[in-house]
Amino acid sequence: MSQDIHAGLPIAMFDSGVGGLTVLHECLVSLPEEDFVYLGDDARFPYGARSPEELRAQVAQVSRFLLERGAKLLVIACNSATSAGVEAARRVASEAGVEVVSVIGPEAEIAAAVTDTGHVGVLATPATVRSGAYRSALSAQHRPLTITEVEAPDLAAVIQRGFPFSDRVVEMVRSYCGPFQRAEVDTVVLGCTHYPLVRPMLQRTLGRDVRLVSAGHAIAATVQRVLTERGLARESRGEGTYRFLCTQDPQAFRELGTRFLQMPLGDVELVQLP
Ligand code: DGL
Repeated sequence: MSQDIHAGLPIAMFDSGVGGLTVLHECLVSLPEEDFVYLGDDARFPYGARSPEELRAQVAQVSRFLLERGAKLLVIACNSATSAGVEAARRVASEAGVEVVSVIGPEAEIAAAVTDTGHVGVLATPATVRSGAYRSALSAQHRPLTITEVEAPDLAAVIQRGFPFSDRVVEMVRSYCGPFQRAEVDTVVLGCTHYPLVRPMLQRTLGRDVRLVSAGHAIAATVQRVLTERGLARESRGEGTYRFLCTQDPQAFRELGTRFLQMPLGDVELVQLP
């Protein structure tokens, strides 16, 4: 697979659903002149409940699909996909000469920089926690950290369904936050791109003194740097375009996405991955 990579191509981004829109939002703020294509693989949501083998295959497939449509950069806006599949995505993208930007590393770096006590929590899907990806990214930060990881098997699904903010959900969030409170962490990594969408609820439960770290801003900065280094940044010419694809339910994706991004998504294209 090869393509002529040039600045006029869009930046491709994907997640299992609407969570990656939290990353897209930051990119739209920092890089308004760029074009974006975002794929929500809602047919195979939740990625966080899948095995590493399944995730690797899915990530390779989605990456190939997006690159064949034409992209100058690939952003994995999903922690579960990154934790198992970033190498698979890099292999596919390198055949096309395209670079991959992903989550996990940036949040680990920020968390290590902002924690005062060195007690850091990670809230993530089972796939991400079990991969050990945060543990190794945090351990690589050249400062001793005490890490408390909590699997949240149901939180992304609540968000993806459009939030029934019921007592049951509040109770569920409380129980996920319990281990962080007992470990007296001062920083919690939101290790799933869906979670910034419930930031108020998490902040309220953990208290004002706990810093919540997410990836979006750092990813936008990395995208900007990579494009500039590779001579792929688009000349400023007003606002770029954005297109949305999903694999199951365009109507639901459009409604949720419009609400979260606070802008009209336009038509969401239903695609079938080969
Ligand atoms: N947004 C995905 C992530 O960052 C989680 C949702 C899922 O389980 O598919 O891990």
